[in-house]
This record gives sequence, structure tokens and C-alpha cells, in this order.
Amino acid sequence: MSRRISGFKPTGPLQLGNYVGAIRPVVRGQHEQPTVAFIADLHALTVQHDPALVQARSREVAGLLLAAGIDPGTTVLYRQSDVAAHLELHYLLECVASYGEAHRMIQFKEKGGGGGSRLSLLTYPVLMAADILLHDIEEVPVGHDQRQHVELTRDLAERFNERYGPTFTVPRAVHPAVAARIADLAEPARKMGKTNASTAGVLFLLDPPDVLRRKVMRAVTDAGTEVVYDPDRHPGVANLLDILGALSDRDPHVLAGGFDGYGQLKATVADAVIDTLEPIRRRYQALTDEDIESVLAEGAERAAGHADQTVRRARTALGLTGGR
Ligand code: TYM
Repeated sequence: MSRRISGFKPTGPLQLGNYVGAIRPVVRGQHEQPTVAFIADLHALTVQHDPALVQARSREVAGLLLAAGIDPGTTVLYRQSDVAAHLELHYLLECVASYGEAHRMIQFKEKGGGGGSRLSLLTYPVLMAADILLHDIEEVPVGHDQRQHVELTRDLAERFNERYGPTFTVPRAVHPAVAARIADLAEPARKMGKTNASTAGVLFLLDPPDVLRRKVMRAVTDAGTEVVYDPDRHPGVANLLDILGALSDRDPHVLAGGFDGYGQLKATVADAVIDTLEPIRRRYQALTDEDIESVLAEGAERAAGHADQTVRRARTALGLTGGR
């Protein structure tokens, strides 16, 4: 049974892209496959951050994952910084990764990576590789934006195994069939992201229904009225069809034929988004900080058990056997 992992950076409130691209696939498979989900708070330090906000957002992300259906009875849910093995394996993997490799990562460039950026922004994908390899993961359910990072993880695992002997499981990325890249409703050329400068086109999991409806009804479409699924020529409309397709498990091409105009499409998308997100928001509101912290504490213990063994294997392979 393939082991899976997904991580979520607490750099902003979770949005629909996180839900469709990663949370839902994780929730759906968690009773069939061993699953790990974690709050990637160390990754939030790679850009300017407010410590109090990182702490609050970490708990919010954990609460939202629980509210969205992560079952802590089966899934190991924890906060990355509670498990020190991430940091140790990060360094060990830096010793098999090259500067050029890290520098080629698209997200480093997208986030304005340059002389003044934090060194951790450059090495961030190596930390992500450590996150995955610690848990002997076979499948990484992620959106398309993380594809390159999982490729790097594969490369590092293979290289390490070749140089120092079989140590790591080599993982692969798995993407949802529909909507592996949800776009910003106001700017369909951009991905919907929790840190997008304007929130007009971002559907947050905690937005109340009237806000969700307003954002969907104002989504940028294009000239014309006919509803067709054509991501190149009509990206705004295709994005709405992707969202609807993902939320209703239907093919966006087929869905397109069922609408008379953009207004009707938007109203249907708004209903589907609200029907999906409103129960999550309500369940989230019923959780206390203590509920969330106790799940995270137990998850960290379970995660550390596995992770420590992996690090021990890596240390031994590298010749660092002294005393541990
Ligand atoms: P993050 O926090 O940016 O996003 C969390 C997950 O949501 C997916 N996602 C999307 N999917 C479809 N459409 C979108 N618009 C969209 N926006 C986000 C992301 O692909 C991701 O699956 N580096 C990771 C966090 C991480 C991680 C890991 C993930 C750290 N270590 C190990 C998996 C395994 C990140 O920044 O995700």
C-alpha cells in the first residue's frame, strides 16, 4: 500500500486551490493508504514573516485540515518544526544537492530570489525533499506547482542511494485529474494562491458564503457568451469549469455543454463552492485550540518515530555513526 504525504505552508489562509489540489485527494485516500499530512511552518520562514502570525496560521491550517476531513485516527497530522529530524535530514541532503540544481527551481525565481533573499529560500526545495524522504513516501499528492520540487526529491533520493547504498524510497508526484492548477478568478493567468497580492480572485476556505458568491460572480471571463472548455483561448471560463468539474467529479468538457451563458455558469459554480466550503467553515469554528494542539502533539510523536529511524539510516550510510 503506497504511503503518501502532503504539506501545507502556513503563509496565509488556505484557499480552494489547496483544497482541490491536495487536501481532498489526501482525505479521500486516507483510509486506504497510510497518510502523513503536516504544517510546513519551517518553510514559512523562507520569506519575511511575522512570528506571531506563523504560529496562529499553523494552528489555523491544522484546524482546517481536520475540518476538511483529515482523520487523525489514521492520518499522521503534525507540525514540521515539532519534529527535529526534518532539519537534520535537510542538511544531510544538502550534501548531495548542487547549487545549480537549487538555483534552477522556478519558485525561487518567482518569489524574487536574488542576492538579498534568504538563503533558506534557495534551499527550500531540499527541505521539501527531506520532508518527503523522512517518511519513506511513494506518492506525493500535490498541485502542479509542486511538480518540479518532487522531481528534485526523486533525483536526490536516487543519487544518494547510488552513492551511499539503498537508503531512501523514491517518491513520485500524483496530481488530481481535474484542476491540478486552479487559477485566480480575477487574473486567470496566475495560480490561485494564499499570498496573491489581491484577494479578489482567491476563494478562501474561511470566506463566508456571501463573499464566496461575490468573488465567483465577479470572476473574469472574456468577451463572448458561449460556454466552451478552451483553457488557451478562454482561460477564465475554463477555470470555472475546472472548479465545478473538480467539486462535482465531472468532466469539464461535458459540463460546458450544459450552460446557456456565463451568468448561469457562475451561479452554479458559486453554489458548488459554498456547498463544499460552508460545512468545513462550520466544523472549523467548532474546534478549540486545545483540540488542535492535542492532535498535533500526538501526530508529532508518531511522525518522529518513523523519521528518526530514517535519519539514522542516512547517518549510517554517510559514515556518521558515532553514538546514535
Ligand atoms: P502550498 O502550501 O503552497 O500548497 C499546499 C498544496 O496545495 C496545492 N495548491 C494548489 N493546487 C491546485 N491549484 C492551486 N491554485 C494550488 N495552490 C496550492 C499545492 O500544490 C500543494 O500541494 N512546498 C509546498 C509545501 C510542502 C510540501 C512538502 C508538499 C513542503 N514540504 C512535502 C508536499 C510534500 C507548498 O508550498 O505548498
